[in-house]
Amino acid sequence: MRNLRLVSLKLTVFLGAFAPNTHATCQGHSGLPSLYICGTILTPSGPIRNGHISIENGRIHSIGATCTLSPHADTTTFIDCGTGVVSPGFINAHEHLEFATVRPLLDDGTRVSHRHDWRRGMRGNEKREPARNYTKLVSAMWGELRHIFSGTTSVVGGAMAPGLVRNLDWAEGLGVGLVSGAAKYDIYPLDDKEGILRKDDCDYGPHTITKEQAAKYPMYIAHVSEGIDAEAANEFRCLSDASYDVTPLPNGGGTSTDIIQPNVAFVHALGLTEPDFDLVAERGAHLVWSPRTNIFLYGKTLDISVPLAKGVNVALGTDWVVSGSATMGREAVCAAHVMKNSFGVDVEAKTLWEMMTINAAKASGVAAHVGSLEVGNLADIVIFRDDGGDPYGSVVFGKPENINLVLRGGKVLVANPTLNQLSGEYCESVTFGEPSKKIVCVANELGKTYAEFKKDLEGVYPAILPGVPENEPSCEPTR
Ligand SMILES: *[C@@H]1O[C@H](CO)[C@@H](O)[C@H](O)[C@H]1NC(C)=O
Ligand SMILES: [Zn+2]
Repeated sequence: MRNLRLVSLKLTVFLGAFAPNTHATCQGHSGLPSLYICGTILTPSGPIRNGHISIENGRIHSIGATCTLSPHADTTTFIDCGTGVVSPGFINAHEHLEFATVRPLLDDGTRVSHRHDWRRGMRGNEKREPARNYTKLVSAMWGELRHIFSGTTSVVGGAMAPGLVRNLDWAEGLGVGLVSGAAKYDIYPLDDKEGILRKDDCDYGPHTITKEQAAKYPMYIAHVSEGIDAEAANEFRCLSDASYDVTPLPNGGGTSTDIIQPNVAFVHALGLTEPDFDLVAERGAHLVWSPRTNIFLYGKTLDISVPLAKGVNVALGTDWVVSGSATMGREAVCAAHVMKNSFGVDVEAKTLWEMMTINAAKASGVAAHVGSLEVGNLADIVIFRDDGGDPYGSVVFGKPENINLVLRGGKVLVANPTLNQLSGEYCESVTFGEPSKKIVCVANELGKTYAEFKKDLEGVYPAILPGVPENEPSCEPTR
Protein backbone atom coordinates (compact mmCIF):
# COMPACT_ATOMS: atom_id res chain seq x y z
CA MET A 1 0.00 0.00 0.00
CA ARG A 2 1.33 3.42 -0.99
CA ASN A 3 2.12 5.98 1.68
CA LEU A 4 -0.51 4.65 3.95
CA ARG A 5 -1.19 7.12 6.67
CA LEU A 6 -3.38 6.12 9.50
CA VAL A 7 -5.89 8.71 10.41
CA SER A 8 -7.22 8.80 13.86
CA LEU A 9 -10.04 11.11 14.59
CA LYS A 10 -11.15 12.57 17.80
CA LEU A 11 -14.61 13.83 17.13
CA THR A 12 -16.95 15.41 19.57
CA VAL A 13 -19.71 13.13 20.70
CA PHE A 14 -23.06 14.59 19.75
CA LEU A 15 -25.63 13.25 22.12
CA GLY A 16 -28.61 14.49 20.17
CA ALA A 17 -31.71 12.70 19.00
CA PHE A 18 -29.52 10.67 16.69
CA ALA A 19 -27.42 8.76 19.13
CA PRO A 20 -29.21 7.72 22.26
CA ASN A 21 -28.10 4.56 24.05
CA THR A 22 -24.82 4.58 22.21
CA HIS A 23 -22.88 1.43 22.92
CA ALA A 24 -19.18 1.19 22.45
CA THR A 25 -18.04 0.09 18.99
CA CYS A 26 -17.26 -3.60 19.18
CA GLN A 27 -15.98 -5.97 16.59
CA GLY A 28 -17.76 -8.93 15.05
CA HIS A 29 -16.01 -12.20 14.34
CA SER A 30 -14.57 -11.06 11.04
CA GLY A 31 -13.39 -7.77 12.42
CA LEU A 32 -16.39 -5.95 11.02
CA PRO A 33 -18.64 -4.20 13.49
CA SER A 34 -21.95 -5.75 14.42
CA LEU A 35 -24.59 -3.13 13.89
CA TYR A 36 -28.20 -2.81 14.92
CA ILE A 37 -29.85 -0.02 12.95
CA CYS A 38 -33.32 1.38 13.52
CA GLY A 39 -35.26 3.43 11.00
CA THR A 40 -37.57 3.02 8.03
CA ILE A 41 -36.35 -0.12 6.29
CA LEU A 42 -37.03 -0.40 2.54
CA THR A 43 -37.57 -4.11 1.93
CA PRO A 44 -38.74 -5.89 -1.24
CA SER A 45 -42.25 -6.07 0.23
CA GLY A 46 -42.42 -2.42 1.22
CA PRO A 47 -41.19 0.01 3.87
CA ILE A 48 -41.07 -1.05 7.53
CA ARG A 49 -41.41 2.05 9.68
CA ASN A 50 -39.72 1.99 13.10
CA GLY A 51 -38.11 -1.28 12.12
CA HIS A 52 -34.59 -2.58 12.43
CA ILE A 53 -31.89 -4.24 10.42
CA SER A 54 -28.94 -5.96 12.04
CA ILE A 55 -25.60 -6.70 10.46
CA GLU A 56 -23.08 -9.39 11.37
CA ASN A 57 -19.88 -10.20 9.55
CA GLY A 58 -20.72 -7.96 6.63
CA ARG A 59 -24.13 -9.48 5.96
CA ILE A 60 -27.71 -8.75 6.88
CA HIS A 61 -28.46 -10.86 9.94
CA SER A 62 -32.01 -9.84 10.72
CA ILE A 63 -34.74 -7.44 9.66
CA GLY A 64 -37.80 -6.75 11.75
CA ALA A 65 -40.69 -4.49 12.60
CA THR A 66 -39.32 -3.63 16.02
CA CYS A 67 -36.52 -1.47 17.31
CA THR A 68 -35.37 -3.06 20.53
CA LEU A 69 -31.82 -4.10 20.96
CA SER A 70 -31.59 -7.01 23.33
CA PRO A 71 -29.44 -10.00 22.34
CA HIS A 72 -25.71 -9.38 22.02
CA ALA A 73 -26.25 -5.79 23.11
CA ASP A 74 -22.80 -5.70 24.62
CA THR A 75 -21.06 -6.53 21.34
CA THR A 76 -23.25 -4.54 19.01
CA THR A 77 -23.26 -0.89 18.00
CA PHE A 78 -26.74 0.52 18.19
CA ILE A 79 -27.64 3.13 15.60
CA ASP A 80 -30.86 5.00 15.97
CA CYS A 81 -31.80 6.27 12.55
CA GLY A 82 -35.40 6.78 13.55
CA THR A 83 -35.29 9.74 11.18
CA GLY A 84 -33.53 7.80 8.46
CA VAL A 85 -34.56 5.61 5.55
CA VAL A 86 -32.48 2.47 5.12
CA SER A 87 -32.03 1.27 1.53
CA PRO A 88 -29.76 -1.08 -0.34
CA GLY A 89 -26.77 0.89 -1.64
CA PHE A 90 -27.45 2.07 -5.19
CA ILE A 91 -26.19 -0.03 -8.07
CA ASN A 92 -25.15 2.07 -11.05
CA ALA A 93 -25.74 -0.19 -14.04
CA HIS A 94 -23.78 1.99 -16.46
CA GLU A 95 -20.75 4.23 -16.08
CA HIS A 96 -17.47 5.05 -17.82
CA LEU A 97 -15.29 5.48 -14.76
CA GLU A 98 -12.17 6.28 -16.75
CA PHE A 99 -13.71 9.69 -17.58
CA ALA A 100 -14.65 10.55 -13.99
CA THR A 101 -11.98 13.27 -13.81
CA VAL A 102 -13.31 15.06 -16.90
CA ARG A 103 -15.77 17.90 -16.39
CA PRO A 104 -19.15 17.95 -18.16
CA LEU A 105 -19.22 19.18 -21.76
CA LEU A 106 -20.43 22.73 -22.16
CA ASP A 107 -23.81 22.94 -23.81
CA ASP A 108 -23.62 24.69 -27.16
CA GLY A 109 -27.09 23.47 -28.02
CA THR A 110 -25.87 20.78 -30.41
CA ARG A 111 -28.01 17.64 -30.52
CA VAL A 112 -27.06 14.80 -32.86
CA SER A 113 -28.70 11.60 -34.07
CA HIS A 114 -26.19 8.84 -33.35
CA ARG A 115 -23.22 8.35 -31.05
CA HIS A 116 -20.78 8.25 -33.94
CA ASP A 117 -21.82 11.83 -34.80
CA TRP A 118 -20.19 13.25 -31.64
CA ARG A 119 -17.68 10.43 -31.06
CA ARG A 120 -16.16 10.51 -34.51
CA GLY A 121 -17.39 13.82 -35.87
CA MET A 122 -19.33 12.06 -38.60
CA ARG A 123 -21.91 13.50 -41.02
CA GLY A 124 -20.61 17.03 -40.62
CA ASN A 125 -20.77 17.08 -36.82
CA GLU A 126 -18.10 18.27 -34.46
CA LYS A 127 -16.03 15.58 -32.77
CA ARG A 128 -16.68 16.03 -29.06
CA GLU A 129 -15.30 12.91 -27.42
CA PRO A 130 -13.05 14.17 -24.62
CA ALA A 131 -9.59 12.88 -23.81
CA ARG A 132 -9.15 11.14 -20.50
CA ASN A 133 -7.76 13.30 -17.67
CA TYR A 134 -5.31 11.38 -15.40
CA THR A 135 -4.82 7.61 -15.62
CA LYS A 136 -7.66 5.11 -15.80
CA LEU A 137 -6.92 4.01 -12.25
CA VAL A 138 -6.88 7.49 -10.73
CA SER A 139 -10.02 8.43 -12.66
CA ALA A 140 -11.79 5.27 -11.51
CA MET A 141 -10.80 5.97 -7.90
CA TRP A 142 -12.19 9.48 -8.16
CA GLY A 143 -15.40 8.33 -9.84
CA GLU A 144 -15.90 5.58 -7.29
CA LEU A 145 -15.50 8.10 -4.46
CA ARG A 146 -18.12 10.33 -6.11
CA HIS A 147 -20.53 7.39 -6.22
CA ILE A 148 -19.83 6.27 -2.65
CA PHE A 149 -20.34 9.83 -1.42
CA SER A 150 -23.79 9.81 -3.02
CA GLY A 151 -24.93 6.39 -1.79
CA THR A 152 -23.81 4.02 -4.56
CA THR A 153 -21.99 0.83 -3.56
CA SER A 154 -21.75 -1.07 -6.87
CA VAL A 155 -20.96 0.11 -10.39
CA VAL A 156 -20.74 -1.40 -13.87
CA GLY A 157 -18.15 1.07 -15.06
CA GLY A 158 -15.73 -0.27 -17.66
CA ALA A 159 -12.73 0.64 -15.47
CA MET A 160 -12.11 -0.14 -11.81
CA ALA A 161 -10.16 0.73 -8.72
CA PRO A 162 -9.46 -1.84 -5.99
CA GLY A 163 -11.72 -1.42 -2.96
CA LEU A 164 -14.22 1.47 -2.91
CA VAL A 165 -17.36 0.44 -4.87
CA ARG A 166 -17.92 -3.11 -6.05
CA ASN A 167 -17.07 -3.27 -9.76
CA LEU A 168 -19.60 -5.70 -11.16
CA ASP A 169 -17.83 -6.01 -14.51
CA TRP A 170 -14.44 -6.99 -13.05
CA ALA A 171 -13.77 -10.37 -11.42
CA GLU A 172 -11.09 -8.72 -9.26
CA GLY A 173 -13.39 -5.84 -8.41
CA LEU A 174 -16.42 -7.66 -7.03
CA GLY A 175 -15.28 -7.05 -3.48
CA VAL A 176 -15.41 -9.02 -0.26
CA GLY A 177 -18.23 -11.55 -0.03
CA LEU A 178 -19.54 -11.22 -3.58
CA VAL A 179 -19.06 -14.69 -5.01
CA SER A 180 -20.31 -14.31 -8.56
CA GLY A 181 -19.13 -14.08 -12.12
CA ALA A 182 -18.30 -10.63 -13.44
CA ALA A 183 -20.45 -9.11 -16.16
CA LYS A 184 -18.97 -8.45 -19.60
CA TYR A 185 -19.04 -4.75 -20.45
CA ASP A 186 -19.09 -4.03 -24.18
CA ILE A 187 -19.14 -0.61 -25.83
CA TYR A 188 -18.94 -1.91 -29.41
CA PRO A 189 -20.85 -5.19 -29.77
CA LEU A 190 -20.93 -4.65 -33.54
CA ASP A 191 -17.20 -3.86 -33.76
CA ASP A 192 -18.11 -0.39 -34.98
CA LYS A 193 -15.66 1.65 -32.93
CA GLU A 194 -14.31 3.40 -36.02
CA GLY A 195 -17.76 4.80 -36.68
CA ILE A 196 -19.54 2.34 -38.97
CA LEU A 197 -23.12 3.40 -39.71
CA ARG A 198 -25.45 0.97 -41.53
CA LYS A 199 -29.16 1.02 -42.10
CA ASP A 200 -30.07 -1.76 -44.53
CA ASP A 201 -27.60 -4.49 -43.61
CA CYS A 202 -25.19 -5.62 -40.88
CA ASP A 203 -21.89 -4.82 -42.57
CA TYR A 204 -20.17 -3.70 -39.38
CA GLY A 205 -16.70 -4.78 -38.22
CA PRO A 206 -15.38 -8.35 -38.54
CA HIS A 207 -15.63 -9.09 -34.81
CA THR A 208 -19.27 -8.54 -33.98
CA ILE A 209 -20.66 -10.42 -31.00
CA THR A 210 -22.36 -13.75 -31.70
CA LYS A 211 -25.20 -15.46 -29.90
CA GLU A 212 -22.81 -18.16 -28.67
CA GLN A 213 -20.24 -15.68 -27.34
CA ALA A 214 -22.87 -13.60 -25.58
CA ALA A 215 -24.35 -16.72 -23.99
CA LYS A 216 -21.06 -17.54 -22.26
CA TYR A 217 -20.91 -14.48 -20.03
CA PRO A 218 -22.63 -14.35 -16.63
CA MET A 219 -24.15 -11.13 -18.00
CA TYR A 220 -23.43 -9.41 -21.30
CA ILE A 221 -24.06 -5.66 -20.98
CA ALA A 222 -23.70 -3.84 -24.29
CA HIS A 223 -24.29 -0.41 -25.81
CA VAL A 224 -26.88 -0.91 -28.54
CA SER A 225 -28.83 1.59 -30.63
CA GLU A 226 -27.48 4.75 -29.00
CA GLY A 227 -29.17 7.20 -31.28
CA ILE A 228 -32.51 8.20 -32.72
CA ASP A 229 -32.08 7.48 -36.41
CA ALA A 230 -32.49 4.47 -38.72
CA GLU A 231 -28.79 3.65 -38.23
CA ALA A 232 -29.35 3.31 -34.47
CA ALA A 233 -32.45 1.15 -34.94
CA ASN A 234 -30.54 -1.06 -37.37
CA GLU A 235 -28.08 -2.08 -34.65
CA PHE A 236 -30.77 -3.79 -32.60
CA ARG A 237 -32.10 -5.49 -35.70
CA CYS A 238 -28.63 -6.91 -36.43
CA LEU A 239 -28.48 -8.35 -32.92
CA SER A 240 -32.03 -9.69 -32.71
CA ASP A 241 -32.95 -11.07 -36.13
CA ALA A 242 -30.65 -13.84 -37.42
CA SER A 243 -32.36 -13.94 -40.82
CA TYR A 244 -32.01 -10.19 -41.51
CA ASP A 245 -28.52 -10.30 -43.08
CA VAL A 246 -27.12 -13.72 -43.95
CA THR A 247 -24.45 -12.54 -46.40
CA PRO A 248 -21.00 -12.52 -44.77
CA LEU A 249 -18.30 -9.99 -45.59
CA PRO A 250 -15.09 -11.33 -47.20
CA ASN A 251 -13.02 -10.65 -44.07
CA GLY A 252 -15.58 -11.88 -41.55
CA GLY A 253 -18.62 -10.40 -39.90
CA GLY A 254 -21.37 -8.81 -41.92
CA THR A 255 -24.22 -11.03 -40.80
CA SER A 256 -26.96 -10.56 -38.25
CA THR A 257 -27.37 -12.67 -35.14
CA ASP A 258 -29.87 -13.03 -32.32
CA ILE A 259 -28.39 -12.48 -28.89
CA ILE A 260 -31.63 -11.67 -27.08
CA GLN A 261 -31.52 -13.88 -23.99
CA PRO A 262 -31.85 -13.51 -20.20
CA ASN A 263 -28.17 -12.76 -19.59
CA VAL A 264 -28.14 -9.79 -21.97
CA ALA A 265 -28.66 -6.14 -21.04
CA PHE A 266 -28.90 -3.32 -23.57
CA VAL A 267 -27.43 0.04 -22.62
CA HIS A 268 -29.33 3.07 -24.04
CA ALA A 269 -31.50 1.16 -26.57
CA LEU A 270 -32.75 4.56 -27.70
CA GLY A 271 -33.50 3.30 -31.20
CA LEU A 272 -35.80 0.48 -30.11
CA THR A 273 -39.43 0.29 -31.20
CA GLU A 274 -42.45 -1.25 -29.45
CA PRO A 275 -42.04 -4.65 -31.15
CA ASP A 276 -38.37 -4.58 -30.12
CA PHE A 277 -39.40 -4.08 -26.49
CA ASP A 278 -41.88 -6.95 -26.86
CA LEU A 279 -39.02 -9.20 -27.88
CA VAL A 280 -36.79 -7.99 -25.04
CA ALA A 281 -39.65 -8.67 -22.59
CA GLU A 282 -40.50 -12.06 -24.02
CA ARG A 283 -36.88 -13.25 -23.83
CA GLY A 284 -36.23 -11.84 -20.35
CA ALA A 285 -33.42 -9.53 -21.47
CA HIS A 286 -32.74 -6.22 -19.68
CA LEU A 287 -32.48 -2.51 -20.39
CA VAL A 288 -30.14 0.04 -18.84
CA TRP A 289 -31.62 3.52 -19.04
CA SER A 290 -29.54 6.72 -18.81
CA PRO A 291 -31.94 9.55 -19.62
CA ARG A 292 -29.71 12.58 -18.95
CA THR A 293 -27.00 11.65 -21.42
CA ASN A 294 -29.66 10.72 -24.02
CA ILE A 295 -31.28 14.14 -23.67
CA PHE A 296 -28.01 16.08 -23.68
CA LEU A 297 -26.62 14.31 -26.74
CA TYR A 298 -29.72 13.45 -28.78
CA GLY A 299 -32.41 15.77 -27.43
CA LYS A 300 -34.67 13.01 -26.13
CA THR A 301 -34.88 9.73 -24.26
CA LEU A 302 -37.13 6.69 -24.13
CA ASP A 303 -40.63 6.73 -22.71
CA ILE A 304 -39.56 4.17 -20.16
CA SER A 305 -43.15 3.41 -19.18
CA VAL A 306 -43.44 1.43 -22.45
CA PRO A 307 -40.84 -1.27 -21.68
CA LEU A 308 -41.87 -1.18 -18.00
CA ALA A 309 -45.48 -1.93 -18.92
CA LYS A 310 -44.30 -4.88 -20.99
CA GLY A 311 -42.45 -6.27 -17.98
CA VAL A 312 -38.91 -5.50 -19.12
CA ASN A 313 -36.40 -5.29 -16.29
CA VAL A 314 -35.10 -1.70 -16.46
CA ALA A 315 -32.01 -0.55 -14.54
CA LEU A 316 -30.81 3.02 -14.18
CA GLY A 317 -27.25 4.11 -14.96
CA THR A 318 -25.53 7.49 -15.02
CA ASP A 319 -23.47 6.84 -18.18
CA TRP A 320 -20.65 9.33 -17.61
CA VAL A 321 -20.14 12.68 -15.98
CA VAL A 322 -19.25 14.15 -19.41
CA SER A 323 -22.83 14.20 -20.75
CA GLY A 324 -24.81 12.29 -18.10
CA SER A 325 -25.31 12.47 -14.37
CA ALA A 326 -22.54 12.66 -11.81
CA THR A 327 -24.56 10.64 -9.30
CA MET A 328 -27.45 8.19 -9.22
CA GLY A 329 -29.55 10.73 -7.33
CA ARG A 330 -29.17 13.26 -10.14
CA GLU A 331 -30.07 10.57 -12.70
CA ALA A 332 -33.25 9.85 -10.73
CA VAL A 333 -34.12 13.55 -10.68
CA CYS A 334 -33.71 13.67 -14.47
CA ALA A 335 -35.67 10.45 -14.96
CA ALA A 336 -38.68 11.73 -13.01
CA HIS A 337 -38.48 15.13 -14.69
CA VAL A 338 -38.39 13.88 -18.27
CA MET A 339 -41.12 11.29 -17.73
CA LYS A 340 -43.41 14.01 -16.43
CA ASN A 341 -42.47 16.73 -18.91
CA SER A 342 -42.07 14.72 -22.11
CA PHE A 343 -44.52 11.92 -21.59
CA GLY A 344 -46.94 13.14 -18.93
CA VAL A 345 -46.15 10.14 -16.75
CA ASP A 346 -45.63 10.35 -12.99
CA VAL A 347 -43.03 7.68 -12.31
CA GLU A 348 -43.30 6.58 -8.71
CA ALA A 349 -40.23 7.04 -6.56
CA LYS A 350 -40.49 3.33 -5.72
CA THR A 351 -40.18 2.44 -9.42
CA LEU A 352 -37.03 4.54 -9.70
CA TRP A 353 -35.70 2.98 -6.51
CA GLU A 354 -36.16 -0.49 -8.01
CA MET A 355 -34.25 0.62 -11.11
CA MET A 356 -31.42 1.84 -8.85
CA THR A 357 -31.28 -1.28 -6.67
CA ILE A 358 -32.84 -4.68 -7.38
CA ASN A 359 -33.37 -4.18 -11.13
CA ALA A 360 -29.75 -3.07 -11.53
CA ALA A 361 -28.64 -6.10 -9.53
CA LYS A 362 -30.63 -8.35 -11.88
CA ALA A 363 -29.23 -6.63 -14.97
CA SER A 364 -25.71 -7.16 -13.58
CA GLY A 365 -26.24 -10.77 -12.47
CA VAL A 366 -25.78 -10.19 -8.73
CA ALA A 367 -29.34 -10.10 -7.40
CA ALA A 368 -28.70 -13.07 -5.11
CA HIS A 369 -26.20 -10.99 -3.13
CA VAL A 370 -26.96 -7.27 -3.32
CA GLY A 371 -29.71 -4.88 -4.37
CA SER A 372 -32.29 -5.80 -1.75
CA LEU A 373 -32.43 -5.82 2.03
CA GLU A 374 -32.87 -9.50 2.78
CA VAL A 375 -31.38 -11.71 5.45
CA GLY A 376 -28.13 -13.24 4.18
CA ASN A 377 -27.47 -10.55 1.57
CA LEU A 378 -24.33 -8.44 1.74
CA ALA A 379 -24.73 -5.39 3.94
CA ASP A 380 -24.34 -2.83 1.13
CA ILE A 381 -26.51 -0.09 2.56
CA VAL A 382 -27.23 3.60 2.31
CA ILE A 383 -29.25 5.55 4.85
CA PHE A 384 -30.69 8.91 3.88
CA ARG A 385 -32.38 11.44 6.13
CA ASP A 386 -36.15 11.05 5.94
CA ASP A 387 -37.44 14.21 4.30
CA GLY A 388 -40.94 13.51 5.55
CA GLY A 389 -42.58 12.51 2.28
CA ASP A 390 -42.51 9.21 0.41
CA PRO A 391 -39.62 7.27 2.00
CA TYR A 392 -38.56 6.02 -1.44
CA GLY A 393 -38.35 9.65 -2.55
CA SER A 394 -36.08 10.50 0.41
CA VAL A 395 -33.69 7.90 -0.92
CA VAL A 396 -33.79 8.20 -4.70
CA PHE A 397 -33.76 12.00 -4.74
CA GLY A 398 -31.61 12.21 -1.60
CA LYS A 399 -28.68 14.59 -1.79
CA PRO A 400 -25.18 13.63 -0.63
CA GLU A 401 -25.49 16.05 2.29
CA ASN A 402 -28.55 14.06 3.50
CA ILE A 403 -26.63 10.80 3.83
CA ASN A 404 -26.44 9.31 7.31
CA LEU A 405 -24.47 6.20 6.50
CA VAL A 406 -22.96 4.21 3.62
CA LEU A 407 -21.84 0.64 4.25
CA ARG A 408 -20.24 -1.81 1.83
CA GLY A 409 -20.31 -5.34 3.19
CA GLY A 410 -20.88 -3.85 6.64
CA LYS A 411 -17.79 -1.65 6.37
CA VAL A 412 -18.40 2.01 7.11
CA LEU A 413 -17.52 4.25 4.15
CA VAL A 414 -19.48 7.41 5.02
CA ALA A 415 -21.15 8.34 8.29
CA ASN A 416 -22.86 11.36 9.71
CA PRO A 417 -20.79 12.90 12.55
CA THR A 418 -23.58 11.93 14.95
CA LEU A 419 -22.48 8.35 14.34
CA ASN A 420 -18.92 9.06 15.37
CA GLN A 421 -18.79 5.83 17.37
CA LEU A 422 -18.38 4.20 13.94
CA SER A 423 -15.26 6.23 13.20
CA GLY A 424 -11.95 4.42 13.12
CA GLU A 425 -8.33 4.80 12.15
CA TYR A 426 -8.93 5.21 8.39
CA CYS A 427 -11.60 7.85 8.82
CA GLU A 428 -11.46 11.61 8.39
CA SER A 429 -13.85 14.54 8.60
CA VAL A 430 -14.93 15.99 5.24
CA THR A 431 -17.26 18.83 4.29
CA PHE A 432 -20.30 17.81 2.25
CA GLY A 433 -21.50 21.28 1.39
CA GLU A 434 -21.58 23.91 4.10
CA PRO A 435 -22.20 23.35 6.91
CA SER A 436 -22.59 19.59 6.59
CA LYS A 437 -19.68 17.42 7.72
CA LYS A 438 -19.34 13.70 7.21
CA ILE A 439 -16.93 11.09 8.43
CA VAL A 440 -15.48 9.28 5.41
CA CYS A 441 -13.47 6.09 5.84
CA VAL A 442 -11.61 5.35 2.61
CA ALA A 443 -7.94 5.99 3.49
CA ASN A 444 -7.03 2.30 3.66
CA GLU A 445 -8.54 1.79 0.20
CA LEU A 446 -7.01 4.91 -1.37
CA GLY A 447 -3.60 4.43 0.22
CA LYS A 448 -3.82 8.00 1.47
CA THR A 449 -6.45 10.21 3.01
CA TYR A 450 -9.26 11.58 0.88
CA ALA A 451 -7.94 15.07 1.63
CA GLU A 452 -4.51 14.16 0.25
CA PHE A 453 -5.96 12.44 -2.80
CA LYS A 454 -8.14 15.46 -3.51
CA LYS A 455 -5.14 17.76 -3.23
CA ASP A 456 -3.30 15.69 -5.87
CA LEU A 457 -6.25 16.28 -8.20
CA GLU A 458 -6.64 20.01 -7.51
CA GLY A 459 -9.08 21.64 -9.93
CA VAL A 460 -10.73 18.45 -11.12
CA TYR A 461 -14.54 18.11 -11.24
CA PRO A 462 -15.58 17.49 -7.61
CA ALA A 463 -16.26 14.13 -5.99
CA ILE A 464 -18.67 15.73 -3.54
CA LEU A 465 -21.57 17.47 -5.22
CA PRO A 466 -24.13 18.87 -2.82
CA GLY A 467 -27.30 20.32 -4.32
CA VAL A 468 -27.27 20.65 -8.10
CA PRO A 469 -23.81 19.89 -9.55
CA GLU A 470 -22.14 22.76 -11.39
CA ASN A 471 -22.40 22.64 -15.20
CA GLU A 472 -24.67 19.63 -14.98
CA PRO A 473 -25.71 18.49 -18.50
CA SER A 474 -29.24 19.52 -19.38
CA CYS A 475 -32.21 17.24 -18.80
CA GLU A 476 -34.56 19.39 -20.92
CA PRO A 477 -35.58 17.48 -24.05
CA THR A 478 -35.43 19.50 -27.28
CA ARG A 479 -37.25 16.98 -29.45
C1 LIG B 1 -8.35 17.83 -15.91
O1 LIG B 1 -7.88 18.03 -14.57
C2 LIG B 1 -7.44 19.33 -14.26
C3 LIG B 1 -6.93 19.31 -12.86
O2 LIG B 1 -5.73 18.61 -12.80
C4 LIG B 1 -8.58 20.30 -14.41
O3 LIG B 1 -8.14 21.61 -14.13
C5 LIG B 1 -9.13 20.21 -15.80
O4 LIG B 1 -10.26 21.05 -15.92
C6 LIG B 1 -9.52 18.78 -16.13
N1 LIG B 1 -9.96 18.70 -17.49
C7 LIG B 1 -11.24 18.49 -17.78
C8 LIG B 1 -11.57 18.47 -19.23
O5 LIG B 1 -12.08 18.32 -16.94
ZN1 LIG C 1 -21.97 4.46 -22.20
